[in-house]
Amino acid sequence: MRKKVIAGNWKMNMLPNEAIAFIEELTPLVKDTENEVILCVPYTDLFYSLLTAQGTNIKIGAQNMHFEDNGAYTGEVSAKMLKSIGVEYVIIGHSERRQYFAETDETVNKKVKKALQENLKPIVCVGETLEEREAGKTSEIITNQTEKALEGIDENQLENIIIAYEPIWAIGTGKTATSEDANNSIKEIRNKIMEIYGQNMSKRVIIQYGGSVKSTNAKELFTTSDIDGGLVGGASLKAEEFSKIVNYSD
Ligand code: PGA
Repeated sequence: MRKKVIAGNWKMNMLPNEAIAFIEELTPLVKDTENEVILCVPYTDLFYSLLTAQGTNIKIGAQNMHFEDNGAYTGEVSAKMLKSIGVEYVIIGHSERRQYFAETDETVNKKVKKALQENLKPIVCVGETLEEREAGKTSEIITNQTEKALEGIDENQLENIIIAYEPIWAIGTGKTATSEDANNSIKEIRNKIMEIYGQNMSKRVIIQYGGSVKSTNAKELFTTSDIDGGLVGGASLKAEEFSKIVNYSD
């Protein structure tokens, strides 16, 4: 049985004092869950969040990283830097980074490889635009993105990777894919993994859904056959709401 992984993506929100208060409020609300709880926070909140989350079941992640170890890359942060302060997860290839910061399948792949090399667990995002969906290309787009993100990645590394299927038209729009649609797309991704790595790995890899997940739709989404939890943006900014998503089965 695959575990459910619920990750918050705060994007460019929350000052350190807000991050600390959030984690203090969230801690008792999620302490009994069997699900994995991750908060992907801005760089400036990482250290405070790690300290506040110490001794709890809340894991901390970053939202991006560079694929080089060091060098003349003004404004960038390396996997080693994240790892050095105790970060465990990192979102890679979020659609906002692909859209606004020229992230490509190639840089996503380089980042995934580097993250794994430094023992960071990547949460790799794939997803189609509305135009691609309407042109009937969803399956082609998401399986291609998955294949390219995982190029050159060993089978034994796959258990350290989370894939997040995030249809771009559902992000921050209040429009959620129906649980059936989301589940079907995730099955397509799983089939692609089966093609590359075999059935055993395809059954083990964690694949989340993301895009307007909230407490009122979490249960319907997360109790389907193939959706292993969610990557949650807007609804991860309030501790109580986020805790209800984590505890969706209560
Ligand atoms: P949303 O964002 O939940 O606000 O739609 C999800 C994401 O971008 O990861």
